Amino acid sequence: MEDKFGREIDYLRVSVTDRCNLRCFYCMPEDGIDLKTHDEILRYEELYDIIESAVKLGFKKIRLTGGEPLVRKGLVSFIEELEQLEIEDLALTTNGTLLAEYAAELKTAGLDRVNISLDTLQPGKFGEITCSDKYSLSDVIRGIKEAKKVGLTPVKLNVVLIKGVNDNEVEDFARMTLDHDITVRFIEVMPLGDNDKWAKEHYISIAEIKEGLNQLGSLIPVKEGIGNGPAKYYKLPNAVGKLGFISPISDHYCRSCNRIRLTADGFLKPCLLADKEFNIRKVIRSSSKSKNLMETLRQVVLVKPKQGLGDKVDTDFEVNKRQMSQIGG
Ligand code: GTP
Ligand code: 5AD
Ligand code: SF4
Repeated sequence: MEDKFGREIDYLRVSVTDRCNLRCFYCMPEDGIDLKTHDEILRYEELYDIIESAVKLGFKKIRLTGGEPLVRKGLVSFIEELEQLEIEDLALTTNGTLLAEYAAELKTAGLDRVNISLDTLQPGKFGEITCSDKYSLSDVIRGIKEAKKVGLTPVKLNVVLIKGVNDNEVEDFARMTLDHDITVRFIEVMPLGDNDKWAKEHYISIAEIKEGLNQLGSLIPVKEGIGNGPAKYYKLPNAVGKLGFISPISDHYCRSCNRIRLTADGFLKPCLLADKEFNIRKVIRSSSKSKNLMETLRQVVLVKPKQGLGDKVDTDFEVNKRQMSQIGG
């Protein structure tokens, strides 16, 4: 459906859990986050009903996110259920650590494709960024290979750029696209949750990255649409794969925003960067049979702000401060 600013909103990002098996230092505060109780988290049947209403309203793209979506039990069966809704594009964003194990089942269940978050190609640094010694870079690499093998394609890697941490690996990431049919996307780090000051200090613009990549050859723009998000795509000369750039800071893409979000505990977010949210859990659990999910989704689309920060939305909305891991990107 169309919002107040003429944008077609047809993309719902659904966080299925606020839990994660990693704790990437830019995403989670050191002492963790207050996890929602089991009862606060929407049940699969509730998620299904909300997604079904979204599809009826004209939403065509659904992305499952987390935390880490693959840590929630029953995800494969849930995806199987979703198959009935004939969603045009059903995708998943994952950190890839459990993907090798689940890729084949996910594909059979009806998942179309995966985006994998990976910020380094160096084993030691992987541990430092993710603050984990349980999972390793090789788990993610196996996940990438398996996803490609079973056809969860196009496989995209999301690389959040962090000054002094992985800016020296941009070329290595880009080189991966020379021989592998994979899309590597560089993302400008966003100040979210408690990481405000840190994100500003560690910010690198996409313009700087593109300039550095020139030594690998001129970037050739790729026109065909290969995603639902704000990424712009290019190819290196003779490369098999693609490069993508996501610049939330240097080039606001709000004017072409097409999405709303559902958090794992049942709040609809009209905008990633606004703290105002609508409690759809209350609607779905209300005893009155007037729980009109389509109406609620419509209402949220209609208060989508023109851009990330600043606009006021009405008083049915609550203000919640969330970390990135509680929104799912
Ligand atoms: P594709 O359909 O494959 O293009 O996926 P996507 O880019 O929509 O999804 P993904 O989960 O891979 O998100 C990539 C990144 O884009 C996120 O981590 C965010 O950094 C950024 N992003 C996505 N949506 C928004 C948005 O609405 N606002 C802002 N500021 N950034 C966003
Ligand atoms: N800025 C930009 N991207 C982020 N992600 C997590 N935190 C941030 C941030 N502060 C990315 C993850 C994942 C995606 C869903 O969001 O790396 O790829
Ligand atoms: Fe987990 Fe993703 Fe956050 Fe890393 S960025 S801690 S993988 S939710």
